[in-house]
Amino acid sequence: MKLLVCGGAGFIGSNFVRSRLRAGDDEIVVLDKLTYAGRRENLKEVESDPRFSFIHGAIEDPVAVAGALEGVDAVVNFAAETHVDRSIAEPDAFVRTHALGTFVLLEGARERGARFLQVSTDEVYGSIEEGSFTESSPLDPSSPYSATKAGADLLVSSYHHTYGMQTLICRGSNNYGPYQYPEKLIPLMVLNAFAGYRLPVYGDGRNVRNWLFVEDFASAIGRVLEHGAPGEAYNVGGPDECENIVVVRRILELCGRDESLIDHVTDRPGHDRRYSLSSDKVRALGWSPATRFEEGLERTVSWYRDNPSWWEPIRSGDYLEYYKRQYGLSLPAD
Ligand code: NAD
Ligand code: DAU
Repeated sequence: MKLLVCGGAGFIGSNFVRSRLRAGDDEIVVLDKLTYAGRRENLKEVESDPRFSFIHGAIEDPVAVAGALEGVDAVVNFAAETHVDRSIAEPDAFVRTHALGTFVLLEGARERGARFLQVSTDEVYGSIEEGSFTESSPLDPSSPYSATKAGADLLVSSYHHTYGMQTLICRGSNNYGPYQYPEKLIPLMVLNAFAGYRLPVYGDGRNVRNWLFVEDFASAIGRVLEHGAPGEAYNVGGPDECENIVVVRRILELCGRDESLIDHVTDRPGHDRRYSLSSDKVRALGWSPATRFEEGLERTVSWYRDNPSWWEPIRSGDYLEYYKRQYGLSLPAD
């Protein structure tokens, strides 16, 4: 199958591309705008593979999209702005990429009769105190990030209902693992712990996330792409849920640091308390997560320990300015 993978230079997209090329006989074209979160280094392992090619471009650019779609059987769209805190501070790019970008991609795929898989998030359902969301739960997003992702999901579904396009949606819970940009909870805390910097925990730290190892999300997306029913959405939840403060304490242990590094800082505005997904529908397609949180977290900490050449260049320049704006702290830090 020839796949167009949009946003394939990011965290989950690059994991998906590596695993598909390792395991199968796909041909893969990556289209990526290379925002601060997208890096060619993430695709180094596959750069010399003759089945792989890269196009630098945006999903909201119809010319780049038309070129990238040549001969493509299916589109997998990871391209997105993905950090909730950035969506609160500067929502513009979230609207552009998720609304306009998804529309332009859908139009291109429709013209070529390509199957379309939209990578989405549990955040479109909003927060849930008890129990789990199913695919028929109402969408009730809280942040500009999740609201624009929900809008994209609705547009994708409308292309199935209106034009009979073969669309699929995968809604994943919180991913973690190698190559994640260190603005997200786990890599941020790991790198701060290595360096002995403060670990900024929002509010009381009792918010709950449902952790999914990135390779498990990549395999679920592959399974839905091949076996999912057109027009359907599939929830992909991780095997374990955990309060943030418990995650942070475990990271400190794995990094050989003590809890005096924890700082309880001002809470995120509109902070969702708990996410939880029922994944029965994707499990019925034969998928199940292979990695429990304890093992995945150890593997993740080891990967960051072994790969400073990946993250050292990130933790400078614009990143330091972002950090100062977000936390009011300088790195190297107080
Ligand atoms: P990421 O921020 O690591 O990567 C996003 C990628 O998209 C980058 O390579 C970036 O350059 C590219 N991109 C951004 N805007 C673009 C545009 N307009 N045109 C082309 N490329 C563009 O993100 P991630 O964590 O890998 O998330 C990938 C997808 O999975 C997103 O759609 C996200 O909503 C979804 N998701 C993420 C998680 C998570 O926990 N990280 C969980 C569930 C779903
Ligand atoms: O649930 C899936 C979503 O998970 C994805 O769709 C998003 O793209 C991804 O960013 C992630 O969103 P979260 O907001 O849950 O992830 P984040 O890593 O930003 O935060 C996880 C939790 O940790 C959340 O409760 C906020 C808290 N947190 C986060 C940071 C960055 C802190 O306490 N301190 C921090 O510095």
